[in-house]
Amino acid sequence: MSASFQPRYPRHTQIRGADLAEQRSAASDAQVGLFEVLRKRHACRSFEPKPVPHDLLNKIVYAAHRAPTAGNAAYRFIVVVKDPQVLQQIKLVSPGFFGDCTVAIFVCTDVDLARTCGQQVFEEMTRFDAGAAAENVILAAYALGLAGTFIKSYNEAAVSRILGLPSHCRTDLLVSIGYPAESGEKPLKKKKGAKETYLDKYGQNWSSNLGEKV
Ligand SMILES: Cc1cc2nc3c(=O)[nH]c(=O)nc-3n(C[C@H](O)[C@H](O)[C@H](O)COP(=O)(O)O)c2cc1C
Repeated sequence: MSASFQPRYPRHTQIRGADLAEQRSAASDAQVGLFEVLRKRHACRSFEPKPVPHDLLNKIVYAAHRAPTAGNAAYRFIVVVKDPQVLQQIKLVSPGFFGDCTVAIFVCTDVDLARTCGQQVFEEMTRFDAGAAAENVILAAYALGLAGTFIKSYNEAAVSRILGLPSHCRTDLLVSIGYPAESGEKPLKKKKGAKETYLDKYGQNWSSNLGEKV
């Protein structure tokens, strides 16, 4: 890019000099931050018994809601569980819930609302939407110095009862959140085949020499 390059903005959004430099640097900071988080994130199941401040949880909830939904519909909602007694009850009905995290974030769907958006939305899209929100939750948590993992191995009916969900709502995914224990697990090596990428057609080589140096 030449030094004299100036992007064209509509008249009412003209940005100059220092503002532009600030915007560019904010953009590059955000990018570095995101890729660092992508590199560092791994399933964490050991936590410090330290509560997560409310303002951090607010940011994580914001990230969850920033994830898209099919057709921009509003059938997804979030339940944040902080009460240690409720967390304990959830753990008792969740074989895949390891470690004593201090917060559990449930991504949920209002099933009745989703049905009004069509059968395909109800059956498929809501699950994709939940995954998108859960990923945002995890990435935001890591960006804030926290850690956690997705958990799907729990008894849905029992958890719904514990959370007091109305019968037209369901939980889709649980994300455990907390401060990672220093003695916590190390990142797993990705399974063979987990990074397969093709160009244009199945089987055609996609070349990348990035490795972990993104
Ligand atoms: C949809 C989904 C459900 C998962 N459910 C559980 C679970 O119930 N319990 C658990 O300990 N980990 C669960 N995990 C975490 C995976 O086991 C973990 O992400 C995977 O082994 C890859 O490791 P990594 O996250 O460190 O890359 C789940 C992950 C996903 C994406």
